[in-house]
This record gives sequence, C-alpha cells and structure tokens, in this order.
Amino acid sequence: MPTRMVYVRRAAQVVTAAGASLRPKRGAEMSELGIIEGGSVITRDDRILFAGPDEEAQRVLAAAPEDAEVEVLEAEGKLVTPGLIDPHTHVVFAGSREFELPLRLKGAAYMDILKAGGGILYTAEQTRAAEEDLLAAETRRRLDRFLLHGVTTVEAKSGYGLRLEDELKQLRTARRLNAEHPVELVSTFMGAHAVPPEYKGDPEAYVRLVIEEMIPAVAEAGLAEFCDVFCEEGVFTPEQSRRILEAGLARGLKPKLHADEIVPYGGAELAAAVGAVTADHLLQASGEGIAAMARRGVIAVLLPGTAFFLRKPPADARRMISAGVPVALATDRNPGSSPTESLPLIMNLACLGMGMTPEEVLAACTINAAHAVGRASRIGSIEAGKQADLVLFDAPNVTYLQYHFGVNLVDTVIKRGVCVVR
Ligand code: NIG
Ligand code: FE
Repeated sequence: MPTRMVYVRRAAQVVTAAGASLRPKRGAEMSELGIIEGGSVITRDDRILFAGPDEEAQRVLAAAPEDAEVEVLEAEGKLVTPGLIDPHTHVVFAGSREFELPLRLKGAAYMDILKAGGGILYTAEQTRAAEEDLLAAETRRRLDRFLLHGVTTVEAKSGYGLRLEDELKQLRTARRLNAEHPVELVSTFMGAHAVPPEYKGDPEAYVRLVIEEMIPAVAEAGLAEFCDVFCEEGVFTPEQSRRILEAGLARGLKPKLHADEIVPYGGAELAAAVGAVTADHLLQASGEGIAAMARRGVIAVLLPGTAFFLRKPPADARRMISAGVPVALATDRNPGSSPTESLPLIMNLACLGMGMTPEEVLAACTINAAHAVGRASRIGSIEAGKQADLVLFDAPNVTYLQYHFGVNLVDTVIKRGVCVVR
C-alpha cells in the first residue's frame, strides 16, 4: 500500500490546541490555542505528520517516500482546527418528539412531561420497539449530519432502553456504527436515565437492577467506557446516583453525571466526591460544587443548546472558568431537550449566550472535549503523532466562527487522514 498523505496548504490560521494532552486546559490556558498563522498541516496515513510554517512543510514533503500519494488541499483564507469532539450525546434512539414543543410553548415544563409518562419514557417506548437495523439507520443519519458540521467524534449514551436487552441493543448499535461510520463513537452506559414504567412505584428496585444486573452485563460485554446517571429531583437522588456510579467504577466504567440541570441538587459536589471525569449541564450548580469540581479536576461539560431549547438561562460558564474548572461544550443531541447535531451552533450559543471567548469555545470543543471522553492522548489537537482528524472552515480566523453565526461554515472534514466531507 502506498503511503497516503494530505497536505493542507497555507491556511489563514491553524488552531493546534497543542500541549494539553495530559491535563485539560483551565482558566487562562483555555485562551491559548497555539495558533499558527499561514501554517500548513501534513497527514500521513491516519496520523498527523507535521503542523507548522509552510516553508518547513515543503522540506517534510521533499523527504516523503517516493510512492507517496499526496493530496493537496489549498487552504488559503481558511481556518483549520482539530476535528470537533462532542462529549455528551444521546444520539442512539428511535423517533422524535416535536409534538412536545407546542406543549412547552403553552407552559408545560420539561419535567412535568416526563412525570406524565412522556419525555424520555416516550422515546424509551419507541427505542424498545425498534429493530436494531432501524435504530442503526436512524442514528446513522444523525452521525452524517454531525460529520457535515465538523464533528469527528461523539460520546453516545444508552438510556432509552431502560431494561437490559434494550440497553445492550443501544450500546451494540453504537459499537456497530463506530466500526461503520467515519464518526468515532465513545460509549456510555446510562441505564439510570429514568425510572421505567414497570418500576414506577419502586425506583429503588430499578436502582438495584441497574447495579446488580445491567452494569455487570455491560462491563462483561465491554460495551461502554463510562457510566452516567440523571441525578435530578424526581429521577435519581444523589445517594442513588453515588451507588450507581461506584458500582460502575468497580467494574471499570468511569463516572459521568447529569448534574444540577433543573434544580440545585448537590450534583456538582457528588461529581467531585466520586472523582467523575465530567459533570454535565450544571445550570443550577452551587458555588461550593463548582469549587469542589475545580479542586478535583472534574470537567464541566456545558450544554447551552439544551438551555436554549428549554428556554432557560444557560450555565454560568464565566464563573466556572474563573474558578479553574476545565470547560468542554457539547450538543446533548437527544429528541427532547436538544434535537440538534450542530456543534458549531452550540459554539455560537456558548460565545454569544454564555460569554465564552472564541478561543475558549474552541478549546472546549477540541482538547478539553477529548479529555471529557478519555481520548486526549489520541485526538483533540493538531500535533505530530496524533490521529489525523481535521476540519477546514470557510473562516479566516477564530473569531469569525462566532461572528458569522448560525450557518455551517465547514468546508472540508478529514477523519483518520481521509477527506470524508469536501
Ligand atoms: O441531557 N436530562 C436528561 N437527559 C437528556 C434529555 C433526554 C430526553 O429528553 O430525551 C438531557 O437533557
Ligand atoms: Fe444529556
């Protein structure tokens, strides 16, 4: 096989996000993107070979093997970034819930819809009923859309099965799509997403099922890397959440947490106490919770698309960044509270709605997001040796991405050294 190379030539700016593969960026580090003005990038097979000034790129190319096939991408006037990473999605599900929107516009609360047996439980019904091939087909279309928006890796949670066979079905679907689709999937087991109707009167029995049957089966089958819980008033208590996360940890599943989304509930504090990799949502996180996350190095995965779609004020990103909490951003792609695959739109909401700077936003969707999915040694930055996941945007600089908002500026996407969108 000849060596395959891609030469991204003379971009307006190359955002490397380099130098933070061991620890996520926090505070002022989030503004340091390692930008190369007028730089070039060379990939070799599925790896990055070089990122730097174009004169040096010429020398690197001159030393390439004779049989190398070099594809040249003229990047004049374009912005090159690491492939975007979405560290919080519920992308594997069947159906949709647009009928909830008019209800919410009339004043119905998201949690009331769930309590009435709709919401997550409606999607669980649809997902349980879906054959694996249909589930894969629906999810594939969402992954296609992610890719068109520059997203080359997504985390994917189960949690619409809510019984062993269907949780496994969701996780198998994620594994299959990870093998078939250019978008890479990182699986999270989230059996504790809601209490299914069969356990309505006895949530404790469902918690036991999650701990005693589901977690061991998922871990045994090697179907997930993380374990997540919807810790929220009326769903799972902090005490139940802790038991579930500890049971996951004992089986090698790293903890994540849906924390303090609707009401302040001690979620941020719990995430710090169990050493969670991330605490997500955090609209109602307390000052003590934020301080505890900073001390323990828990990454805040903020989801401003969810706040926007539920018409709530977003999380206090500025407070978290000042407190030294590493921040990442995600779509939360799901049918109820954030039905979008546009991570660039989420970036716009983070900048224009939460006051994150264009630099912080990019750090949050690249290297910090890579840490949030436990992949920072391989993806999230443009550095020699890392996986060749790149995006070329029709934008001359980092700020332009947030300025020309609400449209898809993605020009080209490269996954593992192959142009998958052009
Ligand atoms: O992260 N909050 C819980 N889970 C999802 C919503 C899932 C749904 O409504 O289907 C979230 O917002
Ligand atoms: Fe979520």
